[in-house]
Amino acid sequence: MKIINFGSINIDHVYSVDHFVRPGETLSSNSYAVFSGGKGANQSIALARANADVVHVGKVGKDGIWLKEKMEKEGIDTSFVNTVKAPTGHAVIQVNKEGENAIIIHGGANLTYKSSDIEKVLKTAKTEDIVLLQNEINDVDKIIKQTKSKGLKVVFNPAPMSDAVKDYPLELVDIFIINETEGEALSGEKKPEKIIKAMGKLYPKSSVVLTLGKKGVIYAKGKKVISVDALKVKAVDTTGAGDTFIGYFLAEFSRGMTIEKCLEAAIKASSICVTRKGAADSIPRLLV
Ligand code: RIB
Repeated sequence: MKIINFGSINIDHVYSVDHFVRPGETLSSNSYAVFSGGKGANQSIALARANADVVHVGKVGKDGIWLKEKMEKEGIDTSFVNTVKAPTGHAVIQVNKEGENAIIIHGGANLTYKSSDIEKVLKTAKTEDIVLLQNEINDVDKIIKQTKSKGLKVVFNPAPMSDAVKDYPLELVDIFIINETEGEALSGEKKPEKIIKAMGKLYPKSSVVLTLGKKGVIYAKGKKVISVDALKVKAVDTTGAGDTFIGYFLAEFSRGMTIEKCLEAAIKASSICVTRKGAADSIPRLLV
């Protein structure tokens, strides 16, 4: 079973700061570094480092060919990563002393998917394959519809959340992987237990994985609810932690592991990720 990830690829410009810049303020950074990123690419790298079979479908400009090469070296099938005229997507990331981040993204090449690209990839898919999506590319709604019309499973991480998400055919999503902000936007509820209940009512056929940062994670499908605690670690940079979680969760899921095992592996991997700087570069490799 392979995971086909239609996902963003970004160049991350990361600034470490004493505090997030305030309106009207000019702030000097303490350090600056360029990393590979993009929620999609990070998730593919996490999948590959967790030994899953992953095909990445993405777009870069000429300035991002190094990112494609990097993904290839990770063992990701990049035959559907094309170079386009638009510049590679990028992110401007502030990381504060607590390791928290504030991110601005510019879509660039990530917003140049065409229907024909989607069709070409799905033609190569088998029904047991899984399609993974985040919300940093265009045509997410079309990809969901086309994937389901082929009978494949859709896993959707609606990050970053936007107003458009509610108009996507979300009833076709098999697994939602969301954080509290995304959960609140989708369900209108603030408390984790209420988010889970409301999501169950809105999307009764879907499973929901609700990540809660330091408070762990809750999984729910119908009446089955599983909670796993977070591990205590000293966070240096939380960028990419959610992506690491998703990659590891799905890698274990594709190997037929129990949901408990999938959640435990994902929590462990994302806990390691936050103790390191950068996005893709901070994702751990599976220890066997
Ligand atoms: O989830 C972290 C990612 O979000 C960063 O790598 C950045 O590129 C943005 O897409």
